[in-house]
Amino acid sequence: MTTLDPALAAWFDHHDQRLHDDLFAFLRIPSVSARSEHRADVAAAASWLHGHLARIGFATQTIPTAGHPVVLAEWRQAQPGAPTVLVYGHYDVQPPEPLELWTTPAFEPTLRDGNIYARGSVDDKGQLWLHVAALEAHLAARGTLPVNVIVLAEGEEEVGSEHLAPFVEQHRQRLACDAVVISDSTMFAPGIPSILSSLRGLAYFQIDVTGPASDLHSGMYGGAVVNPAMALARILATFHDATGRVAIPGFYDAVRPFPDAVRDGMRRLPFDEPDFMRQLGVASLGGEPGYSTLERLWTRPTCEVNGMLSGYTGEGAKTVLPGTAMAKVSCRLVPDQDPAVVHRLLESHVRAVAPAGVTVTVRALHGGQAWRADLAGPLYEAAARALTAAFGRAPVITGEGGSIPVVNDFARLLGAPILLVGFGLPGENAHAPDEWISQDNFRRGMRAIAALWDELAAAGA
Ligand code: BES
Ligand code: ZN
Repeated sequence: MTTLDPALAAWFDHHDQRLHDDLFAFLRIPSVSARSEHRADVAAAASWLHGHLARIGFATQTIPTAGHPVVLAEWRQAQPGAPTVLVYGHYDVQPPEPLELWTTPAFEPTLRDGNIYARGSVDDKGQLWLHVAALEAHLAARGTLPVNVIVLAEGEEEVGSEHLAPFVEQHRQRLACDAVVISDSTMFAPGIPSILSSLRGLAYFQIDVTGPASDLHSGMYGGAVVNPAMALARILATFHDATGRVAIPGFYDAVRPFPDAVRDGMRRLPFDEPDFMRQLGVASLGGEPGYSTLERLWTRPTCEVNGMLSGYTGEGAKTVLPGTAMAKVSCRLVPDQDPAVVHRLLESHVRAVAPAGVTVTVRALHGGQAWRADLAGPLYEAAARALTAAFGRAPVITGEGGSIPVVNDFARLLGAPILLVGFGLPGENAHAPDEWISQDNFRRGMRAIAALWDELAAAGA
């Protein structure tokens, strides 16, 4: 079995406290990309990252986009013939609300029971930072890196990466590489390192229902005027049939089934369904018939309500017929569903089922394609060796229900193999209160990535 180079191992041991301190400083910056009042904080996180990459020896630029900036850093002094790798991560985070449900404040990182709690700890600042730390380890302990490295960090992943595909397209030559490596995902279970073979895509919508010109007295008008909240409820109720299948006509037309070998692999994973239900606090599960829970999560498309707003929701009772109703709806997609096509299908379905007496609009907010890959070749073999060195056991192959919109753009525009190797854990509370990353995984993750560059260079030579 390969092991981590003792010089690198010693460097990590010696700098453990400082690497934690730096991570905590990064996590203290409330870089919430969705909120305009945090624009300066998002910029501050970019500048913090820029400073570190420059300090460890990377030629670093912060490049503005129409949204939040991209931090692009390069180190291209490896031996002739060495591979070039692109490391991607995001320095923006999800909003921290509801604040009152955090045990300690979202932007005051806290170590508790071996876990680091803070918004962004696992998604994705902690995982981006462990990459920067691995690069620093090589440069500090040996004065060089065995591979050429491009670091691309964006500040808009949590709002759909709208400006990143054009950026990658525009800088295609500069971003040319032999491998893309991303840590923005989760391991299958504690102690089981994991490599992702798929991500779902996303198509996100807002549905607005408008009725009377203003809210009305529900006694004076109720029964004679169509109620927008009820109209919205009726529309949403048509999105699935009674079995749990999506009932929007044409929704499954483009769906390419997963290969049997992939489904077999999923069935062999040690998935503990009762424990999964316990963790979530649910008494039973539901979804599309004919598929296991992991298949539903990783291989099948969905249509979900993310939020609804209408009428009176304050204390006590107010008799009112609301003038408007709104829902946020998202579809998770699989290969080869196209977000724009799903938008058209959803819109015409909504138009067909909308009751008379209200006006309904469907607006697309953002979207991205699904991604799936055959994990064959030297990149994945190198990753398996590096993960085995850091975790003491070989990785499993998993799928993922979440989305990283740019991954499909990387595949399309750069043509390099993509390694998605995450160090989060189930229950890590990404996007929720009390988000955490395991300190042990943070440490092993840094070491695994440092070993990966050696393994990849050896494989490429
Ligand atoms: N890191 C997540 C995606 C993820 C979660 C991948 C778990 C693998 C395992 C990412 O930051 C995320 O949340 N993405 C959004 C994308 C959306 C806003 C376009 C998502 O999936 O909801
Ligand atoms: Zn993320």
